Amino acid sequence: MKDSKKIRIALTKGRLEKDTVGLFEKAGYDVEQLKNKGRRLILSIPGTDIEVVLAKAADVITYVEHGVCDMGVVGKDTIDEHSGSFFEVCDLGFGRCRFALAGKKGENFYEGIGVKTIATKYPNVTRRFFESKGMDVDIVKIEGSVELAPLLGLSHGIVDIVETGTTLKENGLEVYEDVSFISARVIVNPVSMKLKKAAIEKLVEKMEHYKGE
Ligand code: PRP
Repeated sequence: MKDSKKIRIALTKGRLEKDTVGLFEKAGYDVEQLKNKGRRLILSIPGTDIEVVLAKAADVITYVEHGVCDMGVVGKDTIDEHSGSFFEVCDLGFGRCRFALAGKKGENFYEGIGVKTIATKYPNVTRRFFESKGMDVDIVKIEGSVELAPLLGLSHGIVDIVETGTTLKENGLEVYEDVSFISARVIVNPVSMKLKKAAIEKLVEKMEHYKGE
């Protein structure tokens, strides 16, 4: 962004957006516009130089990487899957869940020979997980409701996000192994970090301070 005073922050639409707006409210910002946004996608926080952009998780990373947003709030799941060149500066502590390897209840995933098939929305996370075990797997990319894949016989297991565990339980599936833990993170464009260091640090410090309250 050219206007060096302005900080543009992209929030992941949905639950992380709500939690971040709650955090801004605790920090004393006027979040009226953010709470009553209608269908608007670019909003401001009155009395500050902060502009808020609402985007889908992967797009938050894209906008921050390209420098059209200085900062972003995005889940560690999206960061791990997409990676990219940005700084991850703060764990906000909300949006907690985990990546897990799961499959049909009572089955021993590691039993038997032959390459296993894993269905997932997160092929990069899945590839790295099995590479770290030195295990060869076939990965099938699924767009949603990944739990269907082992039920329909497409895969031996899934790597997916587990939050409460209800989806797995209600579909006769169980966690075989945790893969990694997830929460909302603040990311910053490296050039913005140089050019707007003071303003970005001030906002990050505020977010750090109020996140636990
Ligand atoms: C996520 C995830 C699981 C579910 C886990 O799906 O992929 O399906 O939530 O939550 P739980 O452990 O609390 O049951 P999401 O709702 O994002 O929908 P999708 O599968 O269609 O992407």
